[in-house]
Amino acid sequence: MELIVVIGVGGMGTACARRLGSGHRLLLADCDAKQLQSAAGELSADGFDVRTQMMDVSDREAVAQLAEAARHLGPLRTLVLTAGVSPLMAGSARIYEVDLLGTALVLDAFVELARAGSVAVVIASMAGSFIPVSAELERALASLPAAQLLDAVAGLHRDEPQLAYCLAKRGTQLRVQAAALPWAARGARVVSVSPGLIATPMGRLEQSSPEVAAVLANCPLKRIGNTEDIAAAVQWLASPAAGYVTGTDLRIDGGSVAALLAG
Ligand SMILES: NC(=O)c1ccc[n+]([C@@H]2O[C@H](COP(=O)([O-])OP(=O)(O)OC[C@H]3O[C@@H](n4cnc5c(N)ncnc54)[C@H](O)[C@@H]3O)[C@@H](O)[C@H]2O)c1
Repeated sequence: MELIVVIGVGGMGTACARRLGSGHRLLLADCDAKQLQSAAGELSADGFDVRTQMMDVSDREAVAQLAEAARHLGPLRTLVLTAGVSPLMAGSARIYEVDLLGTALVLDAFVELARAGSVAVVIASMAGSFIPVSAELERALASLPAAQLLDAVAGLHRDEPQLAYCLAKRGTQLRVQAAALPWAARGARVVSVSPGLIATPMGRLEQSSPEVAAVLANCPLKRIGNTEDIAAAVQWLASPAAGYVTGTDLRIDGGSVAALLAG
């Protein structure tokens, strides 16, 4: 049976697991035991074949152990990485560890499992469009070995977690772009998705910040997104219908970034 790995089973992760899991084996991973049990219980009760593993994406050893567990559960069909922390949940250093380093560690570990037809989808954010980044820093974010990645952002936006989040998510998009080559060498694809404001526990929390509320107020499609908006796109990206799509980012934000760029 082919394997679907979902790392981070909050709002988006659980919706993606439900969309992708039917007829496959699901391996769910999260650092929050209650969240992991709740998602696994819900999906198991609905007939899905579910395995779980507690892990922290910012911990190299834990990511390696997850990849090793996955190796024994079946050939990798799809990997979805949604684990992340937002500026109202964590300080800048932790945002870099989870959102930036976590992406790098997971892509590095799972490329070893990739085979013809495997797809990795990494959730970034529209926030990645909100920060100017020098060409030099972009190169570093895209190509430094994971072990040196935190050095590239050390001290940047130390007391500005909003900006650290934007930079970490820009880094996520760049990491995915660069990963297209090693994944393609195995006949596999990798893409990122950059959501706008989505109604999950994280999204509802962020909505309390005036900057995020202003983005939502100016959203051309005049609504908050929901987890189905994301899961439907992830399902397409992971399908053979998107077989020529790799190394790129898909923004799903109701036009929020377009509105900002258009002034
Ligand atoms: N909700 C939004 O409005 C929004 C918008 C843009 C981008 N995003 C991004 O989408 C992704 C999913 O967010 P969500 O809205 O589903 O949030 P969520 O809080 O509902 O789910 C995130 C999950 O990740 C887990 N997690 C956090 N840190 C982890 C770690 N170190 N290791 C393993 N698991 C960890 C949490 O326990 C949680 O279950 C995140 O990367 C987030 O930054 C969210």
